[in-house]
Amino acid sequence: MVHTDARRWDRIYREVPLNKIPWNEGRPSRDLVALVKNKSFRGPVLDICCGIGTNAIYAAKKGFEAIGIDISEKAIEIAKENSKKAKVDSEAKFVVGDVLMPKFPDKEFGLVFDRGCLHHIHPEDRKGFIGEIKRVLKPKGKYHVTCFSELNDWPDYTFTKELISELFSKDFRILKIGRRTYTEKGSRNKVHFWSALIEKQA
Ligand SMILES: C[S@@+](CC[C@H](N)C(=O)[O-])C[C@H]1O[C@@H](n2cnc3c(N)ncnc32)[C@H](O)[C@@H]1O
Repeated sequence: MVHTDARRWDRIYREVPLNKIPWNEGRPSRDLVALVKNKSFRGPVLDICCGIGTNAIYAAKKGFEAIGIDISEKAIEIAKENSKKAKVDSEAKFVVGDVLMPKFPDKEFGLVFDRGCLHHIHPEDRKGFIGEIKRVLKPKGKYHVTCFSELNDWPDYTFTKELISELFSKDFRILKIGRRTYTEKGSRNKVHFWSALIEKQA
């Protein structure tokens, strides 16, 4: 069974001003910027749960073919507008879809980029989610994930380093893992994450 509440996500993008949505930072992820700078991956890039497309657009500006997928129609509409404004709409494509049921070919991507996707996947769907990442990645392709850590005192899905290692113990190798902390927009609340670069084994 797949547990995704598409309407709830779409409502956020339709009703909340973009600059008030906590995860819209208005700039690409620092981790992605570092991955590009260090030439840590090959393209094409698949940005899963891409929201309004900021990271896929950044990858396209840096010369990668990129595809963003998100369950929210409104988020994808905005992502398409943003890629036009950035003049990379030929390089960055966006599709509405569920990451649990993507239609991408096998071994297509050099990087699957995930900023805030894994931690919204119901635990019962995780095996299928990781199976899809494995399927769409090229051999030695990379998966970069940023997900809520156990340091947050809320009941949503959170991850320990051990859980991440366990989830990716088969067919993957963790190349790098570290903590990240962000201060929520408009408040002093700190949100804690793990950021990991994971390689698919051939
Ligand atoms: C925390 S936001 C992160 C957005 C984006 N990655 C960013 O960094 O700005 C989570 C995103 O996941 C999308 N989403 C949630 N479940 C999804 C699913 N099963 N398939 C595709 N997108 C999903 C939501 O619509 C939302 O845009």
